[in-house]
Amino acid sequence: MCGVGCQEYSGLIVRSETKVTAQVLEGAGHRLKVVARAGTGVDNIDVQQATDKGILVINAPGGNSISACELTCSLITSLARHVPQGCQSLKEGRWERKMYRGVELAGKTLAVLGLGRIGREVALRMSHFGMHILGYDPCLGQDHPAVVQVEHLDELWPRADFITVHTPLLPHTTNLVSGEVLMKKCKVGVAVVNAARGGIVDEGGLLEALEAGRCGGAALDVFSVEPPTSDPLLSKLIAHPNVIATPHLGASTEEAQKRVALEIAEQLIALVDPNSGYKLSGV
Ligand code: NAD
Ligand code: MLT
Repeated sequence: MCGVGCQEYSGLIVRSETKVTAQVLEGAGHRLKVVARAGTGVDNIDVQQATDKGILVINAPGGNSISACELTCSLITSLARHVPQGCQSLKEGRWERKMYRGVELAGKTLAVLGLGRIGREVALRMSHFGMHILGYDPCLGQDHPAVVQVEHLDELWPRADFITVHTPLLPHTTNLVSGEVLMKKCKVGVAVVNAARGGIVDEGGLLEALEAGRCGGAALDVFSVEPPTSDPLLSKLIAHPNVIATPHLGASTEEAQKRVALEIAEQLIALVDPNSGYKLSGV
């Protein structure tokens, strides 16, 4: 990274794969003033080190929300109807109609953990499938028409047929959906979706709950190690027949990629020229 000569630049724009580590920031020298993330999560940037060096970190948090929301909704519907598994089985020459009998979403309860930009859009869309939406977000008031908000997570676990997480990965959200919750507090057969960040759902606990039949299915777009393919636990989890997995595709649409690129460029212009009419937002 430093080898590409970022000593010469005042600004660095990255997407998700480039890791802006302490070493990269050290190697950047004194000219670097801002690291800009074209996307939401800044977990690929050492924000503390940047802050200590007086380097501003900005992001483009809203540009891919609808894309991430739409992927989440398609994972929920795919889980209910085993779409990927049925497709794979037919491609392999089998006609297994009984094996892939699913459930209707109408009348089922969806728990949405985190009602920020993405969670609230998921809630809205899935309510139009006839799902009852329970929400939990300690930082928000009761302001979403499609969601019944609960005050404590323990009110939510025994009622949910599907759980989807939309929080950042922070110390207090790590293993928010823990093995214990899946094994002891949720309905038998609950299905879990994580298109937020790997680690919000405890991956070891999830595998255990799937193997015990306590969890009926899981859809994962994100993993605690990415790519997850050489991690033994994650490989086993992905290979489980009731798991649907995608390679961190939440923001991978034409529209989202253009939007985050524009948003981050506008923010950089706002920094350089405060009279430009563009505004700073994000982190
Ligand atoms: P956001 O900041 O708008 O919303 C997050 C919400 O989580 C906030 O309202 C916050 O109050 C809430 N929250 C914090 N701690 C909580 C807790 N303990 N329990 C319940 N709620 C809690 O974030 P967003 O833009 O909606 O993004 C949500 C997640 O999706 C982030 O992890 C983000 O990195 C991820 N994301 C993934 C993709 C993808 O490609 N899969 C794309 C975009 C965003
Ligand atoms: C994000 O944080 O913006 C998403 O996870 C998408 C990405 O990183 O590409």
